This record gives sequence, C-alpha cells and structure tokens, in this order.
Amino acid sequence: MHAVLTELGLQEKNSGACGADWIADPSGPEVVSYNPATGEALGTVVQAGTKDYEVIVNDALAAFEKWRQIPAPQRGEVIRQLGEALRAKKEALGALVSLEMGKIRAEGEGEVQEMIDICDFAVGLSRQLYGKTMHSERPGHRMYEQWHPMGVVGIISAFNFPVAVWNWNSAIAAVCGDSMIWKPSPITPLVSVATQKIAHDVFVENGFPGVMTMALGTVEAVGEKMLADSRIPIVSATGSCRMGRRVAEVVSQRFGKTILELGGNNAMVVMEDADLELATRGILFGAVGTAGQRCTTTRRIIAHKNIVKDLTERLVKAYATVPIGDPLDAGTLMGPLVNEEAVAAMMNALEAAKEQGGEVLYGGNRVERPGHFVEPTIVRATPDMPVVKDETFAPILYIMEFEDLDEAIRIQNGVPQGLSSAIFTTNVLSAEKFLSATGSDCGIANVNIGTSGAEIGGAFGGEKETGGGREAGSDSWKQYMRRQTCTINWSRELPLAQGINFG
Ligand code: UN1
Repeated sequence: MHAVLTELGLQEKNSGACGADWIADPSGPEVVSYNPATGEALGTVVQAGTKDYEVIVNDALAAFEKWRQIPAPQRGEVIRQLGEALRAKKEALGALVSLEMGKIRAEGEGEVQEMIDICDFAVGLSRQLYGKTMHSERPGHRMYEQWHPMGVVGIISAFNFPVAVWNWNSAIAAVCGDSMIWKPSPITPLVSVATQKIAHDVFVENGFPGVMTMALGTVEAVGEKMLADSRIPIVSATGSCRMGRRVAEVVSQRFGKTILELGGNNAMVVMEDADLELATRGILFGAVGTAGQRCTTTRRIIAHKNIVKDLTERLVKAYATVPIGDPLDAGTLMGPLVNEEAVAAMMNALEAAKEQGGEVLYGGNRVERPGHFVEPTIVRATPDMPVVKDETFAPILYIMEFEDLDEAIRIQNGVPQGLSSAIFTTNVLSAEKFLSATGSDCGIANVNIGTSGAEIGGAFGGEKETGGGREAGSDSWKQYMRRQTCTINWSRELPLAQGINFG
C-alpha cells in the first residue's frame, strides 16, 4: 500500500458509507481504485447500498435538526477547524489526488489549497449571511428578509476535481446551517473517503456527527435515489451535460432546486495586438494543465488572421517541451488521462476532426508506456466543424482564425456550452467589448488570463448547457438557504398594502 494512503488513515479495503458513524460493512458492490499513471490497483472501497443510503439520509436529517439551531458564527468555527485539518494534511491529500486522478502534484496540492481557501471564505461568510431591510409602504410597519437553512444538500462531484468542488458546496452549505450527503465519483473513491474522514472527525469532535455524510454508491443504489428523494431540497451536481440533464429533470419534477456545473467548451480570443508570449503561457496552462480534464480547460483558440501563424508556431514549440510522465515526479507538467475510455474518446474526437477537415499540427497520439498517457494535441480547425462544438475531456486544442472582433465573439459564443472564456489584448476597447452585454455569453470572462484556474472568491459556473448554477464565492451561498420576507406591524391599525380599503 502507498505510504500516503496509510498516512491518511486508509486501508486496503475501506467503507464508502458514512452517516453519523462510518458504516463498517456497507451493502453495495466494491469498487477498485486504479493509478492512471501505471494501471496498478491502489485500494478498494465498499460502496453504499440503498439500505445504507437510507441510514445516511436519516442521520443527515437528524443532524440538520440540531445544526440549524447553532448560531452561524459557531458553525463557522467548525469550518475554521476543517480548514486547519486540511492545512495539516495538504501535502498528503494533494499527493493522493495526483495518485488517483493523475493531475500533477502542484495541481493536486492546488486543489487542497482551494479547499482551504473556501473554508476561510466560509468562516467569514458565517458572520455575513445578510438579509435586506425594506421600507414598508404602510405606516407603523417594518419589512425585512432573512435567510434560513434549507435542509439536507445532495452533492454529486466528478473525478477531475474530486475533493475541491465537494468543499465549495460543503463548506458553504455547512455555515448556512445545512447538512449534506456527498456522492463522489467512483473513479476517485480513495481521496473522497480520505477527505470524508477528515471532515467527519472534525464534526464528531464538535458534537455534530452527520452534518457532512457520504454515500459513495452506484447510480441505481444512490444517485437516482438522491435525485428522487424529496427529503433533499437541493442537489448540486458537477459532471457531463448528459448527467446534468437527468439531474435537472428528476429534481425539478419534485420542485427541488439544482445547482448544475456541467460541460464547458472554453475559448480564448487572441487579438492582433495581444502579448503573444503571455498568451502562449496562458494557453499552455489552460489547455495542457490537468491533461485537458478541467471543465475550464481551454479547448478553442480564436486567433486573429495576422497573428495565427506566429501564435501557432509558438504553441507547437511550447507543446514539444512539455514533460509528460508520472504526475508525482517533480519535473512533470502533464500526467495521464484518467482511464482508457478517456483515451478512446480523445482518439475518436481526433478521427472526427480529421474527417471534418481538421489538420493535426502537433501530437495526436497515445504515448506508449503503461497507464493512459497521450500527447497534448493541436488541431487546425474551422468553427463550423461539428466536433469543435463538443466538449472532449482531453488535451485537444482547436485553433481557428477570425478577421474582426465581432466575428470572434460570434465564434466564441457559437457553441452549446457557456462556462469560461478569455480575450488576450492590449486594447482596452476590445477588452471592454468582450466583457460587454454583447460580448462573451459565458459565466466567466477574463482578460489576459486563461480560461481555467478561477479563484474561489467569485461565483463559479456558466450558462446554456453548462447548467446555470453558481458555486463557491460571491453570493452563491443564497442557493443553500431559503429566503423569508417578514413584515411586522407595530401600529394599532391594520392598513392594507396597495391602499385597499376592505369594508
Ligand atoms: C472543474 O473543473 O470542475 O477554475 C473545476 C478552475 C478550478 C476549478 C475547476 N478552480 O479551473
């Protein structure tokens, strides 16, 4: 067993079911975790079955009854402790993210840092769950709104950010007074269990077991149950558009709320006046980082026709220097794809691109070594090629050209997804136009920064098929609470609104 697993309290076989207590012997099937860099088995997790799911929901409901009565700043104190516990385990947890998911060590640790940051944010937020006060139109009346906890939040997370995205939801939901059930990706079960252990211990020490629970399980035994479960008022889900559509359909049937963070097809517009050195670096991190498996990955470059040749040459040169290898080795910049299906999806997309008139300018092959390694790939493309409208979760970068900014914006917006976007320019007019109401239609729009690597302080999410949800910072917290408008009559009269005289 890897030392890092022992350090995080994991065993050869672990439970993936945790309510107020860990369920020692869950009734679901076992899932084996594999190292995508070698194919070796890392360990096993026994998944929650439907019976365990029931226990966990009931524990989360019971925990909610208590937790919602605790003053928000005291809830913040527990999250402060969670942040401290994550700080103490940052290196180990970051290494396990890399080992199990394949992103490089710096990015694995970056993911844990993102968790620490959101905990800090949530602690401050616990004293700032502000409601507004309005002036009533009636004399002797006061009107205000307040925010109350919602209940049990369902959190469905994806393999590519196996723990940070859970914490965007969980830290905020916890200070809002909610309890929660986490259904992590079965592709990254070990780091999920290790993280749940850390969170569970903090809540147990504070006397609130069951606030953060986990039901790692199959779609049938856990996922579908959670969607249809009217005891769960909100489901926050990260993953493919196909998965998100199912979540939206089932949850809204029962008038539940959803927070959806689905596919992205993120583009960067590079203007003629851009600093091409800066753009090249931004593109490299955005397109090659995490081996193209971020929802914010740069997938399309829309370059001005006068610089497209220069930019492409710079990119091809930069791509040729990317060290591919074990994500835990210090010099590596690109690790493997997560599994064989991901490699096949990439190769299928490249076949389609070639059939549709695209030309591979760099890469395009699998790297012959154990594990699921591929070359980062650049394809010359045109905006009308159907494959360019799809999100392929792999390091394929499509380059296309434009003549004027209006055309570039049309191309940028001409895909079904709407998560992240960027423009590289030194002209303030172009930058402002890109950010204007007639500019990028995405939830995230950057200037002289790549499409990925957002900070937690802003609201994170996107429009169209990306699902419309917002997570992490700004006022995303409002989605995890219910709003109540209160009007108080302190006069001895009963004036009616709209001046109505009733009898
Ligand atoms: C994701 O890929 O689901 O902005 C999240 C970023 C990261 C989060 C990505 N902070 O790239």
